[in-house]
Amino acid sequence: MNWEQALLSYLPEKTEEIATVISSMEYSLTAGGKRIRPMLTLAFAKLCGGSEEAAVPFACAVEMIHTYSLIHDDLPCMDNDDLRRGKPTNHKVFGEAAALLGGDGLLTLAFETVLSERAVQYNGYEKCVRAGRILAEYAGAVGMIGGQVIDLESEGRQVSVERLRVMDEKKTGALIAAACILGCISAGADEAQIQAAREYAMHIGTAFQIVDDMLDVTSDTATLGKPVGSDEENKKSTYVSLLGLEECQKISRALTDKAVACLKQFDGDTDELVQFAYQLCERKK
Ligand code: IPE
Ligand code: IPE
Ligand code: MG
Ligand code: MG
Ligand code: MG
Repeated sequence: MNWEQALLSYLPEKTEEIATVISSMEYSLTAGGKRIRPMLTLAFAKLCGGSEEAAVPFACAVEMIHTYSLIHDDLPCMDNDDLRRGKPTNHKVFGEAAALLGGDGLLTLAFETVLSERAVQYNGYEKCVRAGRILAEYAGAVGMIGGQVIDLESEGRQVSVERLRVMDEKKTGALIAAACILGCISAGADEAQIQAAREYAMHIGTAFQIVDDMLDVTSDTATLGKPVGSDEENKKSTYVSLLGLEECQKISRALTDKAVACLKQFDGDTDELVQFAYQLCERKK
């Protein structure tokens, strides 16, 4: 079973009474997306000598958290967007309440997955507990959620570059870091490697958000599968709004170089992760 088949296998059975919320969860999980976070989990597991099978439940859990974060991010009380991954947003199809609950369902399913029998069978209890703790920390109030709060509270305001850096590290870097660290944990990597994976991820994560903000200005809706111009409409504070496109390109490339330098900590073949970092930086969607 590849990781994407595994992802759906964790969804609870769609019995009649709970069909709405399961459909809402399934809709967003199967809507596509670039799947960069699970790819990173699996790549770090491989780099550190682990098995793909063991890392799959962790990869799935990260994608569940990411998908939930997008459902909530699109809600009218947040970015109020109507299109995601080329399809109507979850709340446009299921209504706001079911979208909220579908997101909640995915968030909790992520932890069920990290602690699932399959995860424990391949990784042992200790690694699963550690993975769960890291995921909670990085997705929670000091990580992704904190970043989303800073994002909302920065709307319509002039903010410092330092605040933007913290915001992007948290809202986007943190979950990407969790993805990389969980791959390391599954493989039994040492602390220095975990730290290097974290740094690589924070750099590519911040670059990823800066490129996302650039594409919101330079791309088109058909290519992105989500509305362009959303940031301007919501008066978001971004690197683009503060520093302009040209400076953003320089910063995102410099961050990518820094990320790649962190991979020196690993003995294995890092080519894939080097290429990946540059691809993300130069991506068009
Ligand atoms: C979108 O993430 C939200 C950001 C952190 C910028 P992705 O660009 O990875 O979204 P999908 O998964 O490909 O739809
Ligand atoms: C979202 O950032 C980051 C999350 C944690 C969901 P954005 O609001 O820029 O993401 P998009 O552009 O809607 O995908
Ligand atoms: Mg947002
Ligand atoms: Mg958004
Ligand atoms: Mg965006």
